[in-house]
Amino acid sequence: METTPKHRPSSKDQRRGFFITFEGIEGSGKSSQCQRLAANLQARGYRVLETREPGGTPFAEHIRGLLLNTGRNSSWESLTPEGEAFLVLACRSQHVAHVIAPALKKGAVVLCDRFFDSTLAYQGYGRGLDLTALQNLNQFATQGLTPDLTFLFDLPVDQGLARRRRALHQNRLDHEKKKFHERVRKGFMALTKDHPHRIIIIDAGDTIGTIAEQVAKRVQPFLSRMKKLRPSKKPG
Ligand SMILES: Nc1ncnc2c1ncn2[C@@H]1O[C@H](COP(=O)(O)OP(=O)(O)OP(=O)(O)O)[C@@H](O)[C@H]1O
Ligand SMILES: [Mg+2]
Repeated sequence: METTPKHRPSSKDQRRGFFITFEGIEGSGKSSQCQRLAANLQARGYRVLETREPGGTPFAEHIRGLLLNTGRNSSWESLTPEGEAFLVLACRSQHVAHVIAPALKKGAVVLCDRFFDSTLAYQGYGRGLDLTALQNLNQFATQGLTPDLTFLFDLPVDQGLARRRRALHQNRLDHEKKKFHERVRKGFMALTKDHPHRIIIIDAGDTIGTIAEQVAKRVQPFLSRMKKLRPSKKPG
């Protein structure tokens, strides 16, 4: 089995492309907005990679199934918070080394549905694991790769969970208590205070279309320096 990734991320890799992450509680609209921004940028000729965590590689997607309970046997022991953190981090290491860093190196705009802020919010603020330890582990797993821009979709927990209840498939996190999700939401807000230049808070209670317009508008100034695969389509 291959164990050495072909690419190791560096700050130079990051500079060629642009790395955007989408964060927030369950049902806050991350995936909807990630898909809309990807379609918008692709239509305008940008090279785009749309991906997600946990997951984004065959190995990591397999672990995602275990984490979200779709691939687990009900007779297995419960997952410890530390075990959960290491599985998420193992996925991240695979994802960064094999997918994200190579795409950034090629000059793509990488859109990632959840990234390392989710580890701090869920395993740190939500489960109570030590934040400094998690920060160090995040750094270890990503080899220092940091998003250029992060959208935090903020929504009251009840609204997010109500949206999730309408979804076809429930996952392990949907069965967590409301208090857990409240801690996660507060955790995300605390992270915005630590990183006010990187994280943009979006009111996720607006309509999908209004939010998509806001997101596209906030991204545009950063992309003016990016090379396109082909010229933009002319309106009309
Ligand atoms: N702004 C919005 N207003 C109303 N409904 C929305 C909005 N954004 C998303 N939804 C709906 O809420 C549900 C959850 O949205 P979405 O899957 O995008 O959220 P998510 O943050 O990715 O959720 P998860 O945490 O489960 O991955 C979907 O049915 C989606 O159509
Ligand atoms: Mg989603």
